[in-house]
Amino acid sequence: MPKTTTARSRFAEDVAYYLSQTPRQLPSEHLYDELGSELFEAICRLPWYGITRAEQRLLERRAGDIVSRVAPLATIVELGPGSGLKLATLLAARPAGPVTVHLVDVSAAALDAAGRALASDPDLAIVPHEATYEAGLAEVAAGRRSSGKTLTLFLGSNIGNFDPPGAAAFLRNLRTAISEGDSLLLGADLVKPESELLLAYNDPLGVTAAFNKNLLVRANTELDADFDLAGFSHRAIWNDEASRIEMHLVSTRRQRVRVPAVDLNVTFEDGDTIWTESSYKYRTDQIVTMLSQAGFSSTSQWSDDGFALTLAAAR
Ligand code: AVJ
Repeated sequence: MPKTTTARSRFAEDVAYYLSQTPRQLPSEHLYDELGSELFEAICRLPWYGITRAEQRLLERRAGDIVSRVAPLATIVELGPGSGLKLATLLAARPAGPVTVHLVDVSAAALDAAGRALASDPDLAIVPHEATYEAGLAEVAAGRRSSGKTLTLFLGSNIGNFDPPGAAAFLRNLRTAISEGDSLLLGADLVKPESELLLAYNDPLGVTAAFNKNLLVRANTELDADFDLAGFSHRAIWNDEASRIEMHLVSTRRQRVRVPAVDLNVTFEDGDTIWTESSYKYRTDQIVTMLSQAGFSSTSQWSDDGFALTLAAAR
């Protein structure tokens, strides 16, 4: 058996590689260690960050519709379940009967929380996968059963972290992990006025700044790095041409940072940045096109409060 790739070793590898690139960057999956996941849950409760509430409202209104369109439902796969609340909302609307639930997340803490949120339902067989989406999907596909339908959930606009080629590749890979007639429920944030987007990603309480800077805390605690947190500031910008929010960490002076665990020294000039996240925003028709190009036919789309849920069938 190959040794499992742990979250920490992926982080170490990515720090070594991406901090040596131009522009310097760090993949956003590393934002979600235990503290990062808690900070993200706090972001979801901020009045300026509407994604979670908008999606939850849509799910509450449409859950009955959704489960009736994917009958007979045997398996649910959720990629990045977070607190498990959305999944619980959907499951509450289903007809009685056993369902196998696969939860895929790189964060053990998120898997625990989601598992607890579903624990009271005796008809559920819960299978956690502490893995990247890709590895988790491969595990699910390997154990695929023939009876009943599979519904895969990719919610919260997590799709927005992929650039367009990455999103296309991700959706095609997902398509190969499920069967014709199985479904995908995709949640995606819509383009909205720039001022609203900037407030959502640069909130006045500074929670998003803490979420972003926690990457440096992680490097310090896990990799023995010596990032001075006071020497970096949080920046969120709207890139209109690319239709994305970008989060960066900006060096506020010339400084040298050592990361002994991966034998790396990095010099930052005043104003140099580390690009830590992209969050793409869509028009509803772009979501349908993206799904269609990956081998899905959209069956329904619901949108409200600047957010869209799209239900698509694998063809
Ligand atoms: C969980 C990736 C959807 O992009 O809105 C929240 C993460 N970043 N605030 C997003 C996030 C800054 C979030 N996603």
